[in-house]
Amino acid sequence: MYTTLVRRFKASRKILIPLCGTALLISAVFALINIDLFDQQPIMKTPPANALYLDPTQPPEVRAGDLLSYMTLEEKIGQMILIEKNSIHNLAAISEYKMGGLLSGSGAKPEVNTAVGWKKMITLYQKEAEQTRLGIPLLYGSDAIHGHAHVPGATVFPHAIGLGATNDPELVKQVAEITASELVATGVNWNFAPNLDQPQDIRWGRVYEAFSDDPARVSVLGVAYLKGLQEGKTPVLATPKHFVGLGSMRWESSFNQNFKIDQGKVPIDQTLLRTHYVPPFKEAIDARALSIMVGLNAWGEKKMVLQKELLTGLLKEELGFKGFLVSDWYGVHEGRKNIFWATVSAVNAGMDMLMLPFDYKTFMWHMKVANRLGLVSDERINDAAGRILYAKFALGLFDEGTEEGEVGSVAHARVARETVAKSLVLLKDDNNVLPIDPTISRVLVAGSGADNVGRQMGAWSVEWQGIDGESPAKGVSILDGIKEVVSQSTLVEYEQAGSFASNERAPIGIAVVGEAPYAEGWGDNANPTLSEEDKLAIKNLQSHCDKVVVILVSGRPLILDDIDSYDALVAAWLPGSEGAGVADVLFGRVPFTGTLPLHWPATLSQLPISSDGITADGTPLLFQRDFGIVK
Ligand code: BGC
Repeated sequence: MYTTLVRRFKASRKILIPLCGTALLISAVFALINIDLFDQQPIMKTPPANALYLDPTQPPEVRAGDLLSYMTLEEKIGQMILIEKNSIHNLAAISEYKMGGLLSGSGAKPEVNTAVGWKKMITLYQKEAEQTRLGIPLLYGSDAIHGHAHVPGATVFPHAIGLGATNDPELVKQVAEITASELVATGVNWNFAPNLDQPQDIRWGRVYEAFSDDPARVSVLGVAYLKGLQEGKTPVLATPKHFVGLGSMRWESSFNQNFKIDQGKVPIDQTLLRTHYVPPFKEAIDARALSIMVGLNAWGEKKMVLQKELLTGLLKEELGFKGFLVSDWYGVHEGRKNIFWATVSAVNAGMDMLMLPFDYKTFMWHMKVANRLGLVSDERINDAAGRILYAKFALGLFDEGTEEGEVGSVAHARVARETVAKSLVLLKDDNNVLPIDPTISRVLVAGSGADNVGRQMGAWSVEWQGIDGESPAKGVSILDGIKEVVSQSTLVEYEQAGSFASNERAPIGIAVVGEAPYAEGWGDNANPTLSEEDKLAIKNLQSHCDKVVVILVSGRPLILDDIDSYDALVAAWLPGSEGAGVADVLFGRVPFTGTLPLHWPATLSQLPISSDGITADGTPLLFQRDFGIVK
């Protein structure tokens, strides 16, 4: 009997001892957590009526430091929360969790998607934030990456690749200033732009979001855009993104099983990272960037949000970045399998505000536990919340603004039209077809992009993935622009497929061809080229016209196998709402001045192309960056 008992005990001790140990540890942890989290009321320091942070003459860092000194742990963690507005099912959650920021993920709009609808919705959120003890205003972010394009009626500018083609920092600054005005008019005080990525592979679905593959062009235009957002009459917070190395990823390196290259591994070494990809961020920091978005990518095996040497070491310590680091969509949870450790590691690496984007309850709980267990220090939380407050003060969120902004004005449309005209790049004009005489007798127009405002806007317009065809967004199609610019006696005929009934040849045909909208990894494309329908439309047009001009409406350079047959070729990128800007240049009202913001491959085997224009297979490019016929 005795021996059986001893044997049984010996056999089970391998299980019992670790079990008891774990139970003891868990009870100790919970005892510790319970004491502080549930039993102790936080000490609330009430700010006096003349508290320093209320004084607008004090510098933002002084005001932020002062406000921080009155805040409880929970209030500080609350500032670190950035939540998608669709996860707010009950307004009171904003004050209960003391949230620092909300966002409209692309396509997340108010029930009534108008400028007034946006303003009403965001005002409600801000009022709820005012209910909190300290009444700290919310940051409200949106991806107004080519104007406030989610709001029908807003001015939609060319996507960044088109701005890159203008290479005109003054104009780019003005574009950003107008975008800020349209955002402020709807209550949005934060734009997730400018994009400082540098694409090296046209198969990536985000090529058009970037200005260029040239660090110098990206730096100059990025700073111009940032200043336009932050320093105009209606300032909004700018967010240079995505830190760092984005655009250098290799095909089939994506960590996301749905994608091929987006969210892939950044393969470059420390030297290339510092010489090519860090400089635009350094320039942005020197131009007073108040926040930076960290990408969803990995460098080596480690996700960006975990790269302490880059986030804290390089950005904050070496480059003196005083603003806050915000993670990208779910970026923090993707760092590690366990979301508690993922959050702890990212915050300790230097992430300040977390685009969760839905799960604020778990985040608050995790951060409190982590703090109580000593896994995330008080200093780190103070630093994160202090940086967010610093940005809010620097932006003037605590002080009465006087300017209200304006959505979709005639003056804004005029600048957008000018921007479109300056973004056009003339790549070929062998037979001197351009500019076309506006008094010409007859013009035939064909192609998928001619009468399609949704296509010419591209994605991030009303919907995240954009709308192919009829869109609630306001805009002038390229076809209507042509009709507006030609003389009254000119006959403009349109047939998308280019199959015109009459056999009588026209002196000129304009084929507007290109891509349907796409965003992010959903636009990763193994073979970005023209569709069979568009190729046929060009051929049909050629059979009806003496000369044919091909206009590409696309978010990236396309592989073109029939270029020799085109009399002229123009890259129009994704021009946005003002299609008449294209006609202005085609018909000689404005000269062609745009230049290629990135290298244009002749074949797929040339990909990726280095920033210096070296192709993967060593063969010559179709067009080099900076090329563009000026006439
Ligand atoms: C994109 C960011 C964007 C964010 C918020 C993410 O999917 O990568 O560029 O700012 O969503 O909409």
